[in-house]
Formats: sequence, structure tokens, C-alpha cells
Amino acid sequence: MIKSPLNYTGGKSKLLPQILPLFPSKINKFIDLFAGGCNVGINVEAKQLFFNDNLHPLVDMYHIFATKDIDFILQYIENRIQSFELSKTNVIGYNELRTAYNLDKNPLDLFVLIAHSFNHQIRFNNKHEFNISLGKNRSSYNDRMKKNLIAFVEKLKERNAIFTAKDFNDFELDGLGKDDFVYCDPPYLITTGSYNDGKRGFKGWTEKEEKELLLLLEQLHKKNINFALSNVLEHKGQTNQLLIDWLQNNPYLTPHPLSISYKNSNYQTTKEGSLEVLITNYTPAVLL
Ligand SMILES: C[S@@+](CC[C@H](N)C(=O)[O-])C[C@H]1O[C@@H](n2cnc3c(N)ncnc32)[C@H](O)[C@@H]1O
Repeated sequence: MIKSPLNYTGGKSKLLPQILPLFPSKINKFIDLFAGGCNVGINVEAKQLFFNDNLHPLVDMYHIFATKDIDFILQYIENRIQSFELSKTNVIGYNELRTAYNLDKNPLDLFVLIAHSFNHQIRFNNKHEFNISLGKNRSSYNDRMKKNLIAFVEKLKERNAIFTAKDFNDFELDGLGKDDFVYCDPPYLITTGSYNDGKRGFKGWTEKEEKELLLLLEQLHKKNINFALSNVLEHKGQTNQLLIDWLQNNPYLTPHPLSISYKNSNYQTTKEGSLEVLITNYTPAVLL
């Protein structure tokens, strides 16, 4: 399994062993419509991989990963760490690199910043300036991250991956046919991620977007295109009624409950927990 070099909020790497077997066995084009850390698409066997995310600075970074030589990328990262004397404790060096990135937006500088940022988070202000602080005494570019980066970059090149930075509504899905597959892992309406509150210069995620996405998925179903949607039906005492109603109104949908490993215990739902599901409009081969 390849792990994204970014520790992405809402990343699905831990759930992959449960999610991947539920995907169709033969996939021509795989569309990861809300790619985030690309944890899902990068591990899918498909003829062609498409990754989309509306966080365009992230997509600019992936473009470089997909097109530049790995030695060039690694050397650039090492050089930046040396010139700014980056470490787990050098706040001044980190802030200087952040200022440099916010001036010229070099996509590889964003990766170096994420490697050192608090909890490896990615967040921008309304002027699209990266604004996370140093993860003091905790975050740095380490060997594990380097190993993940190398494997990730190699796989992107091997698969000829294509990246776009569109709103999901603007992604061209018209040309899709049989054996193409759309995977959606949008922000969850009833949880908060630093990318979905709409206060940071990027569009947020509200009932409006949720309804638009569900409509888009209904249209895909009418065209016989297979899709899967990740989401939570319950989270910390809240329920996503919109999604529950949608499931009830569209009998061709199946929610597959996923178990989440939380503090050494496996559960599907508890009072404090989440009911995480993968919703499909087809019956997965493993269940036939
Ligand atoms: C839950 S994360 C995806 C995580 C990913 N599946 C992984 O495993 O790494 C959701 C992503 O949706 C993106 N997003 C939010 N609103 C969007 C929109 N309107 N169109 C496209 N992408 C959007 C966010 O930037 C975020 O990266």
C-alpha cells in the first residue's frame, strides 16, 4: 500500500483495506474527485488515474511530483532545509520559508512547509497565504516521509496520473463510460476539517454542496456509471439526515459500514463514535 507523503486530514489510508475490496475489480478510468492526500487513487489498479481537488496550491504541488525527476525533487527539498536551517525547533527559519512561499508560491516549498508544520496541516487564509505554524519539537522532514514521497512520486509517473484543481461540479464527467469509476470522498457535512469551513478563501462545504453532489451521483447512476461515496451517517451524536433520506429514496444504493480502529477497539458506532460508510450504486464482487 502506498501512503501519501502528506499526513492529510480526513485521509483514508487506514480504511483502505476495507474500502478497496469494495471497488469494481476492473476499472478503466478512476476518478478521485476529492483527492486530498491521494491516498485512495494512488492504490487503485486502473488504466488511468485522475485526481481532482479544488485546493489548487495542493494540485500545483502534485503537478511537480508527477512531472519532475525524483532526484531533482529530493535535492530541492534538501537544499531548502539547509538554506533555511529548518529543524523541529527553528521557528525563524520556518517563518522565513513561509514568507518566501507566500510571495512566489513555489509548489515544492509548500511540501517543505507541510513537512514541518503543526500536525503537518495545510491551511490558508483569505489571501491564500499558507498560515500554519511550525510543529515545534514534533514535525520535520524525516526518513519515513522521504520514503513515502519516493514511492508516491514513482507511482504517479508509472500511472501517468492526471491532476485538475476544479470544483467537483465543473469536472468533466460526460465522456465516462462502462468500466469507468468515480470515487467521492468529500468533506463530511457533520464533521469539521480545516479545509471545509469556508473561512479561508476556499469554498466551504454546506448542505448546498452536499445536495449538489448527491444530484451529480444520481445523474451518474442514470448513465450506468459506477460510483462510491465515503461519508459518515453518524458522528458524535449528530446524524446526516440528508444522506439517510437519500439512501432511503434511492433503493439502488448500498451503505457498507466500515469499522474504525479507535483507541485499540473496533466499533461501528457508539455514542461518541462515528458510523463511517462506503455507499455504492453497485453490488461489490466480494459480496456476490
Ligand atoms: C476528506 S478530504 C479527501 C481525502 C482523500 N480521500 C485522502 O484519502 O487523502 C476532502 C477533500 O475535498 C476537497 N474539496 C472540498 N470542497 C471541494 C469542492 N467543492 N470540489 C472539489 N474538491 C473539494 C478538499 O480540499 C479536501 O482535500
